[in-house]
Amino acid sequence: PAPLRIGLIGFGCVGQGLYDILQQQPESGFEIARIAVKSTTKARTLPLDRFDFQADDLLQDASLDVLVEVIDDADEAFRLVREALRQGRRVVTANKAMLARHLQELVQLQQQTGGTLLYEAAVCGSIPIIRTLDAYFGAEPLRSVTGILNGSSNYVLTRMGEQGADYAPALDEAQQKGFAETDPALDMGAFDPRSKTVILAAHAYGTFLQPDEVLNLGIESISAVDIAFAATLGRKIKVVAGLQRLPDGRVTALVTPLLVAPESPLYAVDHEFNGVVIEADFAGEQFLRGRGAGGHPTGSAVLADLAAIRQGYAYQYPKLHAAPLTYATDLELEIY
Ligand code: HSE
Repeated sequence: PAPLRIGLIGFGCVGQGLYDILQQQPESGFEIARIAVKSTTKARTLPLDRFDFQADDLLQDASLDVLVEVIDDADEAFRLVREALRQGRRVVTANKAMLARHLQELVQLQQQTGGTLLYEAAVCGSIPIIRTLDAYFGAEPLRSVTGILNGSSNYVLTRMGEQGADYAPALDEAQQKGFAETDPALDMGAFDPRSKTVILAAHAYGTFLQPDEVLNLGIESISAVDIAFAATLGRKIKVVAGLQRLPDGRVTALVTPLLVAPESPLYAVDHEFNGVVIEADFAGEQFLRGRGAGGHPTGSAVLADLAAIRQGYAYQYPKLHAAPLTYATDLELEIY
């Protein structure tokens, strides 16, 4: 069969990661036919004539089979993805901030137009968490989904614990390695994992939240002294996102630093790794761990979506009865 023709919108960390992965696998059956970027002056790793400078031109190009949106600007990403879905097209996005704000509308739009939107790369990089919740646990009630969803803050905490490193140099390293957001305050203030928590709530519980309904506490005020103190208790400080079903069926959601004990699978999730623990009513506990940030791991998740699209996969949003949200203060933090 002819390769699937991809229109790539954005050529930053994730876009280049995908490009590189496909370069290394010429037989993958995917071809990056066009690449749209915004800046005409930024230094690029490819010749300038390889680029388009109007993303809308790609939206008008009916010869493209799939659009991949991996730009930074959440508002522009929403405009492009919404327009593509209005046309009934197949779209892959990695934009968690955009999805967290607009997921419900985009889901409804797909249902109206027959378009397809996949976004595995938006949550936990290479960990197949959305597909797992959507496809595998589509029918089984979940007690909780808890995880480390932000690679940069986990990297900073790990580095501070390893060598008593200071916060600022550890953050510099996370930025240099391509883990951090353009505005690293989104990572350190737990806004980024809050977006990911909102997306997971839709797939775990059928609950569409707005980001500001989820309490997020970051690590800006955590020092090497705090980490050393946690170590004297035999624990590590980790930024944990928690979704939990209460006995009355409501769901709680929050992201906060916690003292994590060695008994938790999250204890050993260090550096830029992410980890998610799913507690299902019948399957029991499952744990997924993998690289949560960086060009190749995130590009790999985009590739997984492209392969899924080729197979005709679409999210089911299968949880029939959306669980209402309750307050974060109800969460049973003592599980840690
Ligand atoms: N800045 C994000 C992180 C990138 O550190 O996890 C992956 O979403």
